[in-house]
Order: sequence, then C-alpha cells, then structure tokens
Amino acid sequence: MAQVVRYERRGSVGVITIESPPVNALSRAVRQGLVDALLQGLGDGQAKALVLIGAGRSFIAGADIREFAKPLEPPDLALVTSGFESSTKPTIAAISGPALGGGLEVALACHYRIAAAAAQFGFPEVKLGIVPGCGGTQRLPRLVGVRPALDMITTGESLRTTQAKAIGLVDEIVDGDLLQGALRFAERMVASGAPLPRLRDRDEKLAAARAEPGLFPEYRAAVTRRARGQESPLRAVDAVEAAVTLPFGDGLKRERAIFAELVGGAQSRALIHAFFAERASMVVPDVPADTATRLVRSAAVIGAGTMGGGIAMCFANAGIPVTVIETSSEALERGLGIVRGNYAGSVARGRLEQSAMEKRLGLIKGALDLAAIGDADVVIEAVFEEMAIKKEIFARLDALAKPGAVLATNTSSLDIDVIAAQTKRPQDVIGMHFFSPANVMRLLEVVRGKATAKDVVATAMRLGKTFGKVPVLVGVCDGFVGNRMIFQYTREAEFLLEEGALPWQVDKALGDWGLAMGPFAMSDMAGNDVGWRIRKQQAATRPNDRRYAHLADLICEKGRFGQKTNAGWYRYEKGSRAPLPDPEIEALIVAESKRQGRVRETISDAEIVKRTIYALVNEGAKILEEGIAQRPGDIDIIYVSGYGFPAWRGGPMFYADTMGLDNVYADMKRFHERHGFFWRPAPLLEKLAREGRRFADLAPSRG
Ligand SMILES: NC(=O)c1ccc[n+]([C@@H]2O[C@H](COP(=O)([O-])OP(=O)(O)OC[C@H]3O[C@@H](n4cnc5c(N)ncnc54)[C@H](O)[C@@H]3O)[C@@H](O)[C@H]2O)c1
Repeated sequence: MAQVVRYERRGSVGVITIESPPVNALSRAVRQGLVDALLQGLGDGQAKALVLIGAGRSFIAGADIREFAKPLEPPDLALVTSGFESSTKPTIAAISGPALGGGLEVALACHYRIAAAAAQFGFPEVKLGIVPGCGGTQRLPRLVGVRPALDMITTGESLRTTQAKAIGLVDEIVDGDLLQGALRFAERMVASGAPLPRLRDRDEKLAAARAEPGLFPEYRAAVTRRARGQESPLRAVDAVEAAVTLPFGDGLKRERAIFAELVGGAQSRALIHAFFAERASMVVPDVPADTATRLVRSAAVIGAGTMGGGIAMCFANAGIPVTVIETSSEALERGLGIVRGNYAGSVARGRLEQSAMEKRLGLIKGALDLAAIGDADVVIEAVFEEMAIKKEIFARLDALAKPGAVLATNTSSLDIDVIAAQTKRPQDVIGMHFFSPANVMRLLEVVRGKATAKDVVATAMRLGKTFGKVPVLVGVCDGFVGNRMIFQYTREAEFLLEEGALPWQVDKALGDWGLAMGPFAMSDMAGNDVGWRIRKQQAATRPNDRRYAHLADLICEKGRFGQKTNAGWYRYEKGSRAPLPDPEIEALIVAESKRQGRVRETISDAEIVKRTIYALVNEGAKILEEGIAQRPGDIDIIYVSGYGFPAWRGGPMFYADTMGLDNVYADMKRFHERHGFFWRPAPLLEKLAREGRRFADLAPSRG
C-alpha cells in the first residue's frame, strides 16, 4: 500500500506530511501513519520541533465517512491527538486548506496552528447527526471561548482563515509558501524556549463562561428553536457544557459517550443517507461522467420577473456574463432594480464586498429585443407560465440562437417536449426548473425531454453545480417531481381541514415533526392565487378530473392570496410575515364542514403527519415507477434541498423505509377505504411491502 504519511527532517525540524488524496481523510491508514510518523519524529534526536502538514490542497478534511458504518479499526484517532498534545517537542499544524472534523481535532491537539489564506476550519459533524468525538468539543472552547466554540460546533459551518485568526483559533497567517513559513515558525518557537501550550491545561476562557450562568440555558433554547427536532446540535451543547463543568479527562469521556450514542442512530443514518444521495444525484447512468459538456461563456435570460432576475444573479455570481431580455423598459428596470437591491442587501449585511457587487452587476446587461441573445451559449426562458407565449419564444429562439446553444425553460409545469417541438433542434432544449428565490434556493430540477441530447443534460447538470446548486435530473410530467408530490400533500392538508383540523394545527404538527414550514404558511408565502388559477384552467379543460377541497378556492374568492394581501390561511399584521390564526378562517372552515354535512372530528398530530407525508410517499412511488425520477434518493434530495424537509429524516422515501413499507402500506389501505380513490397505494409500494423490501433496495443510492 502507498505510504500515506511520511516523515522527513528539514534542518532542525521534523516534517510529517499527509498525502492521501483526494482530501487527506482520516482513514485507518492515515491514523496509523500519523502514529508512526510521530514516533519517528519524537525519536529523531536532530528534530527539535515537529510540523504537521497536508500535501495537496487539504490539511485533513475529516473522518472517512465510509468507515462510519463499520466497527472502528485501531488506532483510534484519540491516540493521534493525545500523542501530538503530549509531545515533548513543539507540534505545529500547518494548515493549507480544509481542516474539518477530525482534522481540526488533530490541529487543536497540536501546540500551535498556523494557516494559509485558503484554509478552512470547521466541525461539520452535526450535519451528519453526530458531534466531534475526539476532543474537539473540549479543546475548542478552551482556545476560542465557549460562545464562538458553540457557534462552530452546533452549526457545522466553517470559518475562513481571517475569521479563525480573529477568534484566536490560528496563531499566525502565512503568506507565501506554507511549509517554509512553518519551518521558520517552528525555529522561532524552539528558540523562544516557551513552555509548550497544551489546550487541555487552559481554563481562563472556561472560567469566563462559568461566571455567566445564563449562557447554557439561553444557548440551548436558541438551538432548540433552530434545530427543529434534530438531536445532534443539542447534544453538541451538552458536550461543550461538559468542557466547562468537568475536568478535561472526564469531559473527553462525556464527549465520547455522546458521540457513541449518536453514531449509527436513526438521525445520523438519515443524514448520512442525504449526504450520499446528494452526491449520487449527479450520476446519470446513460450520460457518463466524462461526457463532454458544452462551453458556457455567456448566457441570456428571457424575462426579468421573480425568477428571471434571480437566475441572472446565478450567472453573474458564477462570473458568466448574462443578458436579460424583457418586453418593456419599465419591466426591465423593475427587474434589474430588484437584482441591484438584492446585492446591496448582501453588501449591507457584510456578506458581499462592494467591489464584488459591482463586478457582478457589471456582468448583467439588459435588452428589449430577443435578438440580443446574440451568441449566448445558454438561454434560459423565464416568462409567464403560458404555453402560447413559450411556444412563440422558442420558435423565435430557434431562428436567433447560435447553433449548439442550450435552450432551457424554467417552466414549472408545462410540457418540455411540446416546447422543444417548436424548434428544429429539440435535442438542445431542456428544462431548468429553479425554485424561488432562484439566487438562494439550492434545488434545481433538470428536466430531460424526449429528445434532449446527452451532452445538454450533462451541461445543465454541470451548470447547476457551477451555480452552487443541487441539480437533480427528472423527467417530463405534470409538476415534475417536487411540485407533483407537493400537490398531493397540500390536497391532503386541505381535506384535513374539512374533516376537523385547523390550518395552524396542521402547520404546527408538521413543524414539530421537523418541516421548515407547514403547508398553509407555505401556501400563503407562495401566493394562494397561483394554484387557484391553475385549478380554474383545469376545471375548464378537464371538468371532474380532480377532487380537491374547495376551501382553497373560497379563500381566494375572498381575495386572501396570502402574505401579499396580508391575509390568506392566516392573517398578517401590516409589514409582518408572522402568520396569525384568524377566527374568520376558522368560521369559514367550520361552515364548509357543516355545508358538507360532516361532523368535525379531532385529528391527532400523528394522523396529520401520516396523511400528509404518506401522500408524498405514494406519489413518489408512482414517480419512481414511471421513471420520472432516477432513484429514491433523488426524490429525497429534492425534498431536503427544495422543500424544507428535515434532512435528519432523510427525505420522504428514506423516511418511509424507516417506518417499514408494510406499515406505510397498511396505513394507506386504511386511508384508501376511508378517504377515497387517490389513496390507492402505488403498485410499486404494494409490491415492495409484500416482498418485505425497501425503496433503498431498488437501486444503490451511492452512485
Ligand atoms: N415564481 C415561482 O416561484 C416560480 C418557481 C419556479 C418556476 N417558475 C416559472 O418561471 C417562469 C417565470 O415565473 P415568474 O414567477 O418569474 O413570473 P413573473 O410574472 O414574475 O415574470 C415573468 C416576466 O416575463 C416577462 N415577459 C413576458 N413575456 C415576455 C417576452 N415575450 N419576452 C420577454 N419577457 C417577457 C414579463 O414582463 C415578466 O417580467 C414561469 O414559467 C413560472 O412557472 C416560477
């Protein structure tokens, strides 16, 4: 096996280099290599200090997640950290890139930390449902103070070098060659003869926290609100508290016990599923990873409305010049004004440099003639959701766009194949379904038409990645994957109102279950009139095709379109987005139940969750069966990244697996008998339940 850690001496300094591509993860071989190299360095009479550095662009990017599922093979990482900390020679972590998770724990065990500007520091463990398990929660608060440590450990967000220096996580920033800087730093430390600083011995920052009795209760309350049912951030608070209340050795044991409780638990398994599902979603079996993509050097966006402006920002943020085309200068100015306002807001919040804002705005140009698409490599159409307009635009695009340009539509429901048929190049047409706000939301459904060329699929997926999004490939159908499923979910939620629930009860039950937002608050945010218009159109063309609760129509008839009219399923104080229960809505719902001759029943929160979440699951099963989604994990990722589904429940399909498909099926049969035809379990679900299998057995989720 190739040597992944090597030891060599440079003058009076021993250098331990980790070279385990791609990211120097802490595999068993790396842990063993670190122990061996440390022993070599300690035994090297010529070495007065030891520098630990990563080859390539990482320091150590964390644990090797693939080892999570297996029993830990020795040596334990604790042997590495205690070895570096108790070294009789100064140990210096020289950090060039990501020092994450176990990697940061190793750096904290060293006596000093110096870093290049591109370094990155973080404890992403909570995002995988665990906590740092090798002293991170005990050493970090001793170094940077309890509050900054809690912020890092409970959010999993990482810091850049300057931020890390500001809180004392880094001793020195090195410009130029990191190894040379580390050698000089090591020599200076040796010459100073200073006693070796071991974080385990430090107490002043902990003492400051002890003097603040309200700190942990307050922090816990804030994390409880933010975590929405996820355990790991709260357990991380417990672990950091142990640093404050217990001696170092006992704190380590407590941290390890918490780690052991979480690892392999239901939440951690779900989060790890989501982690791998997100990576697997990039894999398209008939479009190999090495498919040549089309070059994207310039772009055009048609329509500067809600979506077009956000999509233009995605291009500008990625450094790609983009022309935005509108029908009138008023509409164009309004759209570009919103874009400018969004950037200015980011600058005001300190998230963007003024110079970066100007650079990005400089990449966005406006135009009033479709001919301005010029030689754009990608065109994304985001005009009104009307087939007639889209058809006309694509026919003109066919005449105007340069050969080989990718012609994308952001439609949320129209048939991509019909749109593609307006052109003589249907192979270049694809759906790129962004979610609102398009510059913020991570999900991107890439909709593959019948004729879409493979390299166009690859180009759209790659472009999504360039935008920092989570691209998921889906097929053509009404609503694609996300909205097709949400339709069933919302419909069930509305039936629940007729049967006895109230919007705030439904939203609370689902919020407590972990969803970012319940269906009624969500509908008020998106605008109740959107669905209303669609239903009216459908009622005209397909009468009696669908049954849905009429409450949603009733509230729209009253002009209650949601937040934008200060009234929807809730009422809103002027200027506030906080949904407030409204007696008028309660009266309306009760009257509707009465009109239907129903006796309103008490519906438990557990029943609310089943009725709505299983509606997602059943539609998801149909989507899989039809081949609209490639794999169950893709559906999960769509829900986690685009619909506020709790990642710690893994996504709707993973969740159904954890409930047992036989149980899910039995519940659906019960709903079918009581509530009607659209609860007929999907044949795929029925089959899997009968065979005692799971959705996860359909396809390997780790593509
Ligand atoms: N709003 C959402 O949440 C959302 C989410 C995903 C997808 N979509 C889809 O994105 C598309 C745009 O939606 P939106 O919410 O941004 O609508 P919008 O009404 O906010 O904006 C549409 C813009 O297109 C412009 N326009 C109309 N005809 C045009 C033409 N011929 N040439 C150039 N510009 C033209 C209009 O002036 C308007 O500014 C729709 O297909 C919609 O279904 C919307």
